[in-house]
Amino acid sequence: EPVGDKAVKHWWQGKRVLVTAGPTQEPLDPVRYLTNHSSGKMGYALTKVLAGMGAEVVLVSGPTALDVPQGVKEYISVVTADEMYQAVLRHYSSVDAVFKAAAVADYHPLNKSEQKIKKDAEEITITFKKNKDILKALGERKKGQILVGFAAETHDLDIYARAKLQNKNLDFIVANNVSKEGAGFGTDTNAVTIYDRWGGKVDVPLLPKEEVAYQIVKVVAERHGLHKE
Ligand code: PMT
Repeated sequence: EPVGDKAVKHWWQGKRVLVTAGPTQEPLDPVRYLTNHSSGKMGYALTKVLAGMGAEVVLVSGPTALDVPQGVKEYISVVTADEMYQAVLRHYSSVDAVFKAAAVADYHPLNKSEQKIKKDAEEITITFKKNKDILKALGERKKGQILVGFAAETHDLDIYARAKLQNKNLDFIVANNVSKEGAGFGTDTNAVTIYDRWGGKVDVPLLPKEEVAYQIVKVVAERHGLHKE
């Protein structure tokens, strides 16, 4: 079924959906930060598809080079994992579903230098502190929301994805095999496996991210009977 198929356009009509996208940046000093290779393409593709199917999308995005997708209801720009945590938690009680495609930094430099770090020393040591796990916090506070997590894995997808699904009290987890050519960070295409809490598993082959997004929202909609409404 092609993206934009008229028959499925209304699946998410009347639903409020929170999507997170992109990387976070964790500052070391006024000119440097720690980040990852997420481009935001996967989360923006999800936003576009969901909005096209009638959802009111709140997009919480880390820094990306992408334009704000058309049809987005509310766009919230954040930089750090902590800012993303605050924004997501603030909107959580008002949404029906969350798609957490952002690649949140797991650690931040414990001390941000107020001044630019000088290159006098031959070696420097930076201490990192763990960031709060946003998805875990959502799982703990769940009141009927459909919770869709993502996982970037290089091996043993089945084991790690199912463990995250259970530990974080998710309904679905979309596992990317980021070691596969053309899948994962930065690319225009992706290949994923969608696991659900009821033991189901759907493989989505290498396709443009918008097609992958369509397959993800379709699996979720069908599981929750939204396609019949
Ligand atoms: O942005 P693109 O270039 O299009 O790439 C897309 C993608 C590969 C980034 C995306 O498809 C993806 O897999 N996103 C999740 C990447 C990730 O951070 O995986 P993880 O296994 O480290 O984290 C698992 C889940 O926990 C994620 O949903 C993440 O948002 C969430 N998390 C992680 C850490 C943290 N402190 N809080 C979180 O909520």
